[in-house]
Amino acid sequence: MYYSMSQQSRQRIEEKIAELKRQQVLEAVEHIIEFNSTPSELKKEMDKFVIGQKKGKKIIATAIAFHYKRLGTALKEAVIQKGEDIDEVLKTTRTPKANILIVGPTGCGKTYTAEIASMLVGVPFAVEDLTKFSEVGYVGMETGDILVDLLIAADGNSHVAQMGIVYLDEIDKILTETLAFKDVSGKGVQKGLLKLVEGMDNIVKMGKERIHLSTKHVLFIAGGVFEDIESIVKKRMAKQGLLGNWKDHLMAEDLVKFGMERQLMGRFPVKVVYDQLTIQDLKNIMTKSEDSPLKAYVNDLKAWDIDLVLTDDALTEISRRAEQEGTGARGLTSILHRVLFEDMYSLPGNYTGELVMDEMYVRSRLR
Ligand SMILES: Nc1ncnc2c1ncn2[C@@H]1O[C@H](COP(=O)(O)OP(=O)(O)O)[C@@H](O)[C@H]1O
Ligand SMILES: [Mg+2]
Repeated sequence: MYYSMSQQSRQRIEEKIAELKRQQVLEAVEHIIEFNSTPSELKKEMDKFVIGQKKGKKIIATAIAFHYKRLGTALKEAVIQKGEDIDEVLKTTRTPKANILIVGPTGCGKTYTAEIASMLVGVPFAVEDLTKFSEVGYVGMETGDILVDLLIAADGNSHVAQMGIVYLDEIDKILTETLAFKDVSGKGVQKGLLKLVEGMDNIVKMGKERIHLSTKHVLFIAGGVFEDIESIVKKRMAKQGLLGNWKDHLMAEDLVKFGMERQLMGRFPVKVVYDQLTIQDLKNIMTKSEDSPLKAYVNDLKAWDIDLVLTDDALTEISRRAEQEGTGARGLTSILHRVLFEDMYSLPGNYTGELVMDEMYVRSRLR
């Protein structure tokens, strides 16, 4: 049997399909369009995960809340109220981006903050190691990769991918790393990055499909240790007769002195200096953070009917040892593992109930 559809029916079906597609797209981006957290609300949520970094979190929460409120408002007007195509709107909307630069020692929560923030806002997150870029020497070649990472994080939804957060790790290394390659200048890498951070259009090929992606609305958060930046800032402050904490005075100028491109640093108007984690911070990470490595071990042991309890002294001792490692909160995981390993290994045994560890116990395990 052969059924020929009338022109009219076909048109109606096509319209229905288009409407369904539009609905799907809207549903996926709805929570971003409706983003409505105030900076202080966002920071309060971040506090449950990221310990310490009070001032830094305040600045970051404000920048992120403003970015997504601004993007959401623009989309709401154009897509919901005027019925415009979301791809077109993303292409034509102009929202000033406040990319963020986080300076701070290793393991103090730079990457973690970016990850938690994207989770709280509900946008895809990708981490890119910049030392990888400098080896290639030309960032343009790799921007496609970054967009693919976002696309994967967005479960293949290109609209959502274009509103994600990208963390650029070790941005301070793109200069020094490239000095090792005589023919590749670090400045070239930085120029390439400039375009990416500002907003760059790309076509990602996936089989037969060509997906248009732009970094125009992607929020970039860059992080780096910037060894000795403190002395650069302090020197300038002394010269200018400025008083106060150097961390509140970091400027693009200091980063240029460090060796960064002025233009690139200008694309990161929000600058934050994170603190070295104190022993108390490390203790709080174990006892208070939602992602506490200690809580994970406690849960693991509960599955064997063992209630792991660490005394306050034990926690202090573990934090003290972790601090000595100089890798920030990363040290906690390795120290905890060393403390608990023997007990974990000898499971199940016949022991159940409370397992209390005090300072002496911790010390004996770490000998
Ligand atoms: N301030 C913090 N609060 C809670 N956890 C933290 C903090 N800093 C680091 N961590 C923990 O240590 C891990 C490594 O931190 P990360 O953010 O990657 O360090 P970096 O500053 O070098 O980017 C994180 O995944 C997190 O579990
Ligand atoms: Mg990191």
